[in-house]
Amino acid sequence: MRRRGIFITLDGMDGSGKSTQARLLGEFLRARGYRVVTTREPGGTPLGEAIRRVLLGRRAPRASALAELALMYAARAQHIEEVVRPALERGQAVVSDRYHDASMAYQGYGRGLGAATVRAFDRIVCRDWQPDLTLILDLEPEESLRRVRGRKQRRSRFEAAGLPFLKRVRAGYRAIARREPERVILVRAGRSVAEVQRDIRAHVERFLHNGRRRRAPRRRQPVPSATVTLPMGAF
Ligand code: TYD
Repeated sequence: MRRRGIFITLDGMDGSGKSTQARLLGEFLRARGYRVVTTREPGGTPLGEAIRRVLLGRRAPRASALAELALMYAARAQHIEEVVRPALERGQAVVSDRYHDASMAYQGYGRGLGAATVRAFDRIVCRDWQPDLTLILDLEPEESLRRVRGRKQRRSRFEAAGLPFLKRVRAGYRAIARREPERVILVRAGRSVAEVQRDIRAHVERFLHNGRRRRAPRRRQPVPSATVTLPMGAF
């Protein structure tokens, strides 16, 4: 069936307030008359939530960077099949709190697996299910760390990896935004919820206005070789 809906993803650094922004964006789109599905990764389906618990839960077992990437894409494959694809085919708007850019930033750059490895998974799993618009909430790594350390719940493996890891993750997100300016917009996150949401809504408005043109199939840009030279994370 033909894809008719719109697919918007929010991504970015830990502690950047993505989840709140995703919820508010969902409300905005609903008020504009869209039928909206808000969802998240890893998660969004029973299998995805189980994988989330395995990777981010209290007693998360050791996992190599590649195993971690494969699990993220396993969750994503199920998420596309169960949630993203049916909703887009029904003509709904999907707002996902994280999607494949998180794998590029965290596993590709943060863990040092490199862009080519992530792209290989992406070609198999995401294929026709690329987002129409992605808003990346950009935050200083120091601020990201400060915010996640202030949280009550136990820190995840990613948050525990520390500042050098988060610096690579941020570099990853910024590289994605440079490489795909048509799809990806960086939004400065270290501001009030209302200010960030105002920017997000302005970008989404613009996208909705020009949406048809943007949704034409895009050719992927070649991956610069510099992206695969990063060192392994602190693991
Ligand atoms: P998130 O849901 O934003 O965490 P929280 O709800 O605690 O703010 O993301 C969970 C973590 O998973 C986050 O540290 C980023 C990481 N992650 C990856 O490393 N790769 C991925 O592909 C995805 C989707 C998330």
